Amino acid sequence: MDLQMAAGLEVDKVSVRYGGLLAVDEISLQAPLSRITGLIGPNGAGKTTTFNACSGLVRPTSGHVRLFGEDVTHVPPQKRAQRGLGRTFQRMELFDSLPVRENVALGRESGFAASRPWQHLRSSRAQRTLVAAAAQESMELCGITDLAQRRPRDLSTGQRRLVELARCIAGGFKVMLLDEPSSGLDRTETQRFGEILRLLVERRRVGILIVEHDMALVMGVCDYVHVLDFGKPIFEGTTREIAASDIVRAAYLGSEAVEAAVPGGYT
Ligand SMILES: Nc1ncnc2c1ncn2[C@@H]1O[C@H](COP(=O)(O)OP(=O)(O)O)[C@@H](O)[C@H]1O
Ligand SMILES: [Mg+2]
Repeated sequence: MDLQMAAGLEVDKVSVRYGGLLAVDEISLQAPLSRITGLIGPNGAGKTTTFNACSGLVRPTSGHVRLFGEDVTHVPPQKRAQRGLGRTFQRMELFDSLPVRENVALGRESGFAASRPWQHLRSSRAQRTLVAAAAQESMELCGITDLAQRRPRDLSTGQRRLVELARCIAGGFKVMLLDEPSSGLDRTETQRFGEILRLLVERRRVGILIVEHDMALVMGVCDYVHVLDFGKPIFEGTTREIAASDIVRAAYLGSEAVEAAVPGGYT
């Protein structure tokens, strides 16, 4: 694979200002392909804002966002998605009126619709077959094929989280931004979720940038972690370095959460 492609998503000294508040202050990070990169920090640290700058929902005040080596700082969100950047949102947005299979298929269909809207209106049989196959494959990866005909509203939070992940996977993105994807999951569900993320990275070589509060998940799945506090990067390193860091401990995590977490526990 060529080097620019492998670089995945790069955030280069990005700052975001909301009026008087500097929500993100010169953050740099990389989310390369075949890696899971974590972004952690207390509430209000600027994690979601960083995601929004990556996906194009907010315009950085300064700095650059690059995708596969190309500057996309001024490229609109839909175009970034077409170039291979997908995301999930902190609040789930599934369609309760549609069965799970349709919800998952939408991850793929929206890509087609965006790139060729006129074709989407009379989508060809070949295209429908592709969409159905992508949906089926990602439901299998997430272990939710038995839920295909169910409605999201009848599912547990854990199941809904998997549907949401499957929908993003169906989009066929090369880099995926996941904003607190495990919130509301219990211990077992979180572990399962982590296993699916590792599987996704191994099978499809995607790059994942994940914002997550659950330290066991972060320590279990991430290859590398960035820590933010008040919009500033305060530490970065492997999960082992994070676990051993006095800065991280003092500033945010509390020793218990870090010590309880087992680096590489899910792999
Ligand atoms: N649209 C917005 N307008 C003004 N301030 C915002 C907006 N979005 C977030 N903020 C503020 O920016 C800071 C970072 O928020 P956010 O990125 O959501 O943090 P996190 O995801 O780490 O909890 C917070 O102080 C928040 O109140
Ligand atoms: Mg957030």
